[in-house]
Amino acid sequence: MLQKINETADFLMQQFGREAKIAIVLGTGLNDLGADIEIEKAIDYKDIVNFPVSTVKGHEGKLLYGTLSGVKVIAMQGRFHYYEGYNMKEITFPVRVFKAMGIETLILSNASGGMNPLYKVGEMVIITDHINLFPENPLRGKNYDELGDRFPDMSEAYTRVLIEKAENIAKHYQIPYQKGVYVGTAGPTFETPSEYKMFRLLGGDCVGMSTVPEAIVARHAGMQCIAFSVITDLGIIGVVEKVSHEEVLNAAKIAEPKIRQVVKELVKEI
Ligand code: HPA
Repeated sequence: MLQKINETADFLMQQFGREAKIAIVLGTGLNDLGADIEIEKAIDYKDIVNFPVSTVKGHEGKLLYGTLSGVKVIAMQGRFHYYEGYNMKEITFPVRVFKAMGIETLILSNASGGMNPLYKVGEMVIITDHINLFPENPLRGKNYDELGDRFPDMSEAYTRVLIEKAENIAKHYQIPYQKGVYVGTAGPTFETPSEYKMFRLLGGDCVGMSTVPEAIVARHAGMQCIAFSVITDLGIIGVVEKVSHEEVLNAAKIAEPKIRQVVKELVKEI
């Protein structure tokens, strides 16, 4: 594994240089942020040595390198999901590679279903914590001490100072936002009404099928991490409605400008 990580990191540093210190995962809530990046180079995942290849509609599968608000960034356009069949090591491989490239901050984004009764479709949530309900943990198996601790602390999975910065930016631009706990599940089914209820009872505010593996590995690797979610549907007791992938994509489109704006400002302050 270490050899593969270093091989891919070397390959990407040859392509992109070593200047970027921030990586952004453009999830369903943030795909168009790619348009704000002055792209210097884009590489299809299939052309990156050792990289898995993304298969889902709406997840393009390109690694972008360029400038966002004057700051060099790397952005994943499309991520790897557990429900696609990738294992946890594949899903989190890019995060390991970013760390090996000298990247110190990971910005994640996703779409999720809202369970907090105060949430509305189209709202932005700054994720403060998560509950890992994936069937496994990305750190299961041999631990490489070079990569991080065997039993990593998770008391601050999402970096508090970054959350504060994001909040201040949102307030400054009068962008409404929520804060909340993200429940990560394997998918690909959306939740039954009883599952939404259970996740709410467990302490979750929203639920989705990504982000938790990447955040765990980022923290294991000692990177700072922040995650944004777009509420695309509601799983609120008495309000659970039918949900489709199309509706999720449409709701994400509406909410996307809010996250874009916050991320554009945030990268300047990291
Ligand atoms: N559940 C799980 N994942 C999701 C949802 C949801 O309601 N909405 C968008 N992604």
